[in-house]
Amino acid sequence: MIKIAPSILSADFANLERDIKKVEEYGADMIHVDVMDGLFVPNITIGAPVVRSIRKCTGLILDVHLMIENPDKHIEDFVKAGSDIITIHQEATKHLHRTVQSIKKHGIKCGVAINPATSLTELDWIIEDVDMVLIMTVNPGFGGQSYIESMTDKVRDLKKIIDKKGLDIDIEVDGGVSLDNVKMLSDAGANVFVSGSSIFNSKDMEKTMKDFKMLT
Ligand code: DX5
Ligand code: ZN
Repeated sequence: MIKIAPSILSADFANLERDIKKVEEYGADMIHVDVMDGLFVPNITIGAPVVRSIRKCTGLILDVHLMIENPDKHIEDFVKAGSDIITIHQEATKHLHRTVQSIKKHGIKCGVAINPATSLTELDWIIEDVDMVLIMTVNPGFGGQSYIESMTDKVRDLKKIIDKKGLDIDIEVDGGVSLDNVKMLSDAGANVFVSGSSIFNSKDMEKTMKDFKMLT
């Protein structure tokens, strides 16, 4: 199932509720929440208290993308705050299998993200345990970066692996996703599209969201 997940990183943090309600009205399927710690990635954003507040103002799926070192320490906080999906980075955890299990034991969905330079082979022994794979299509840390073209082939390869194994796993793409590349990504096999700047910085957000849906 195709899902559009606006990233609130490009929303107005002083008017978060207003911006979330807008994308909800225009047909968003999930709200993508980027959590950055200034260690795993250069930028610092928000933590569990903000997720708790967001939870109160929307019924949409909260897709929480943890770009933090040592995610194990914080999983419980993000679960209690109301996350529906928690995605951790393969590169940020020493015991990926343990971290995945510790998310799933809370009864929520678990995603694993890989950076542009990380090989799909890193997922060989974990893919059957996850609900979603997040292919980073920029280096994580900031909104508004340019899509890395070679990631289309990575998405295509991942789709082949998933189909060969007969798994039912979402493929999420995040970073530089826009109306210019969303069809290509959808054709390659992605089905969850994160977009920050292309949605929140667009002049006509309603039309942009509609076009996203039409092209996927
Ligand atoms: C980047 C974040 C993204 C970011 C995407 O590290 O994970 O979710 O908000 O923003 P755009 O769509 O502007 O590239
Ligand atoms: Zn993200």
